[in-house]
Amino acid sequence: MLDHVLRTLSSDTLLACLIPTLLFFSSLYFYGIPSLSELRQNVAEIVTGRRRTTFGHFSVERAALSYQQYAKLSRNELATMRASYAKLGRAHKRVGYDLGYTAKLNRLQEATAVNAKVSEGIVQLAQEQFSDRLSYLDWQGAGTHGDLPRVRESLKHFMRDWSEEGREERANIFGPILDVLNEVTAPGRRGMRVLVPGSGLGRLAWEISNAGFAVTANELSFFMNLAFRFLLSEKTTQRVNQHTLQPYASWFSHQRTIDALFRSVNFPDALPRLSRNLELAECDFLTLRPPSPLQAGDLVGYDFVVTLFFIDTSLNIIETLEHIHGLLKPGGSWINLGPLLWTGGGQASLELSLEELLRLADIVGFDIAADADGPRRRRMIECEYTADRAAMMRWLYQAEFWVATKVR
Ligand SMILES: C[S@@+](CC[C@H](N)C(=O)[O-])C[C@H]1O[C@@H](n2cnc3c(N)ncnc32)[C@H](O)[C@@H]1O
Repeated sequence: MLDHVLRTLSSDTLLACLIPTLLFFSSLYFYGIPSLSELRQNVAEIVTGRRRTTFGHFSVERAALSYQQYAKLSRNELATMRASYAKLGRAHKRVGYDLGYTAKLNRLQEATAVNAKVSEGIVQLAQEQFSDRLSYLDWQGAGTHGDLPRVRESLKHFMRDWSEEGREERANIFGPILDVLNEVTAPGRRGMRVLVPGSGLGRLAWEISNAGFAVTANELSFFMNLAFRFLLSEKTTQRVNQHTLQPYASWFSHQRTIDALFRSVNFPDALPRLSRNLELAECDFLTLRPPSPLQAGDLVGYDFVVTLFFIDTSLNIIETLEHIHGLLKPGGSWINLGPLLWTGGGQASLELSLEELLRLADIVGFDIAADADGPRRRRMIECEYTADRAAMMRWLYQAEFWVATKVR
């Protein structure tokens, strides 16, 4: 009897041990040997049912977590501001109160709630559209801290790209680019492809697609991509000016009045949708390949590459220019407008002056006609970037505009 029990037990036990052992060794064979910390993390994930991973700075996971944490992180910041105020002596607190400073802090709390409606809408849509990647996230944020400045920057882009308030700034920088593209006859545009790398919240790409070109809006950062998707989706955005933000509320500096600080901006002033003329490429621009032609017998590559406030984000500007060159058709045009604000701290391999950059364009195989007339004229354009028009401080770029032709 005991013998039978032992035999049954040992064959069942053997089977029970053999299968996981086989699975374990085959996973080692296919995926390699995990480190001790990876093993510990995997076990913790199995036990808690939550995935704790470090994500890329611009990944969909990090962006979604950051939008989700927007309200919490903003409230933490407000708590710090309240604590600083509370340190004042009684007499000064009284003056602060009479000035309305505590009421101002309360208005900041209200503004955060207004903005959080948008950030929560963005997260909800992201959870639906990226359920495969986001359903395992630790939403309590124990492992990953949200990036509040990047969320705020993207929210400001709603103002610049998609509100009446941003119209003047857009006209100043989109205008010269659209003037060059508008030189192509309307029928001619139908067979032409345009790439907009670093397209941000997509307004320029959308404008170009409305003019009749087939446009690829390429953006690496999911802080931008999730926000643009929020506008593109019929689920989250059905009407012009449906949403409201108070985009300036978080920075008390340089404000003339409290009303200016807390002013609301409605958006979007137009309804963007993906179409045959507008597609997204949510990836690193350097991984893009030249597209096949739209018309039989045409050449491979884009007719135009349009870079707006983009090239100076490159860590290797030589690679960027070579890649723009490689993506264009022979004879195609690269339209550029922007400053040279290189990523600091020695992160960029080269931080070129304008003079050096123009020589590099020539080495790579571009011709920038210095004496071109009309819309293609190389020139300096004074412009701003997501500026607060009512503030006491304005950051003015003397940006450079050129149209370069792929000649070699
Ligand atoms: C200064 S912003 C300008 C955005 C947009 N062109 C505008 O004017 O609003 C630069 C943008 O380029 C994006 N970017 C930087 N490197 C990129 C890359 N390798 N591939 C795609 N996008 C990139 C950034 O995420 C950012 O949104």
